[in-house]
Amino acid sequence: MKIAFVTSELDPYAKVGGLADVARGLTKALSQLGCDVKIFIPRYSSIDPWRDELRYCFDVNEIKIKISEKEFSVHAFKKELSFNRKSKIEIYFVDSPFHFDRGTIYTNDIDEGERFLLFSKAVIEICQRLKWAPDVFHINDWPTGLLPIILKQHYSWDLLFKNTKFLLTIHNIEYQGNFSPELVFNNHLDGKYFYLGGPLEFHGKVSFLKAGIVFSDIITTVSENYAREILTHEFGGGMEQILLTKKNVVYGILNGVDYSEWNPKTDKYIPYKYSEKSLYRKSKNKIELLKTFHLPEDKETPLIGIVSRLVSQKGFDLMISGIDEILKMNLRFVILGSGENKYEDFFRSLAYSFPDKFGLKIGFDNQLAHLIEAGADMFLMPSRYEPCGLNQIYSLKYGTVPIVRKTGGLADTVKDWDYYQQLGLHSGNGFVFENFSSQEMVDAIRRALERYKDKKIWKQIQLNGMKENFSWDISARKYYDLYRKLVVVNN
Ligand code: ADP
Ligand code: GLC
Repeated sequence: MKIAFVTSELDPYAKVGGLADVARGLTKALSQLGCDVKIFIPRYSSIDPWRDELRYCFDVNEIKIKISEKEFSVHAFKKELSFNRKSKIEIYFVDSPFHFDRGTIYTNDIDEGERFLLFSKAVIEICQRLKWAPDVFHINDWPTGLLPIILKQHYSWDLLFKNTKFLLTIHNIEYQGNFSPELVFNNHLDGKYFYLGGPLEFHGKVSFLKAGIVFSDIITTVSENYAREILTHEFGGGMEQILLTKKNVVYGILNGVDYSEWNPKTDKYIPYKYSEKSLYRKSKNKIELLKTFHLPEDKETPLIGIVSRLVSQKGFDLMISGIDEILKMNLRFVILGSGENKYEDFFRSLAYSFPDKFGLKIGFDNQLAHLIEAGADMFLMPSRYEPCGLNQIYSLKYGTVPIVRKTGGLADTVKDWDYYQQLGLHSGNGFVFENFSSQEMVDAIRRALERYKDKKIWKQIQLNGMKENFSWDISARKYYDLYRKLVVVNN
């Protein structure tokens, strides 16, 4: 099975959020299932061919691509990753410095749509030059949404792609890539698709995500619950109607975890490795973490971790409105994140006013993210919506008890201790609140603090989480079955 995995993020080369983790973990698991996987990603300025040991692709050479009547010279670099003797992956980095030397992965620049339009065209042209026909183009989120229509419209003459199918994974339906309609006409995309309510049109704009939904054969999203949610007005981001028309090809597959990266037993970023049997060592990481954030080195006071993009999705408005109650509680926070000013300023003011209670780092720091998972007692994710969420799953493995809102993938992975206990079961692995209300969030934190006092119960909750298995093998097999469905129908 030949899979072209097309993505705008890939750990460790280019990461804004969970898509990068998924691109890495899923492709590795697919290759271990025997798939021939090639990953395609732009070569952003953060990726240095020399430092990252990329090879120039002579078999691709120079590709001339026309975007809005201007011609660009595009090249490709390549890197091969092998996991064992049997499985390897090739990563192709699409090189167009004009488009991708911008400092950040996503921009607000006027040509944001054109950057990723060029990327899709380049991916197709690279496949042509390699004479490599994927069975499935697995595209991800809006940046790759135009690929199917471009291929159908501009490259259908090439028999190489005669049997190629498309699978779109939606990681976040709120990011839609809606741009000015000129992009369609300037790039000879078929105007017949751009009319009110048509396949490319969304509120007067051309929508990359909508195009991806319309022209893909299968649409997946990253948890079963979110797959149901996006069919509703509340969570569909306006795409629910178009998704409903394709309901029978919409699937939810929960993201997995690459446990060779996120596992306290082997984590290369944490000072004290530990497992279920040596959970007592976790508190040593807590002391390191407190030191790192210049907080009092006190093992007893509960410590809540946050690692997040600081955007409205992540629900920190509940902390803003619940802050008076939170300040009354006996706990500390360590917060790592960056994003909108509103949230950065809020956390800054807390760290400034209560330096013994709030440790803050604004920025992106993978090593620190690992230390927070290892050293915190609890992990807070009060999201408004959460397609899957990875940090709560990492937290489970680190015995760091998640406190989450019951939405999207958070609802599929975290089981409320108290709720299960009322049913006579001791299988809860975290604390869950239902509605987007600061009172409910504060109550969930309070319940967690109450349980934390009973060391035996707390350990049970931690162990329940650590025993869960969300490894990619399980989820990759589900993707594999969907690819098979497409390919079998095909032949
Ligand atoms: P999303 O993709 O919506 O941001 P996820 O929970 O799926 O949320 O994935 C977030 C990923 O990004 C996790 O691997 C998390 O550790 C990482 N991450 C988010 N913010 C930071 C940060 N400031 N520093 C380091 N890692 C971060
Ligand atoms: C998105 C979602 C997040 C998900 C990630 C990877 O960024 O916000 O919930 O885990 O994609 O699929």
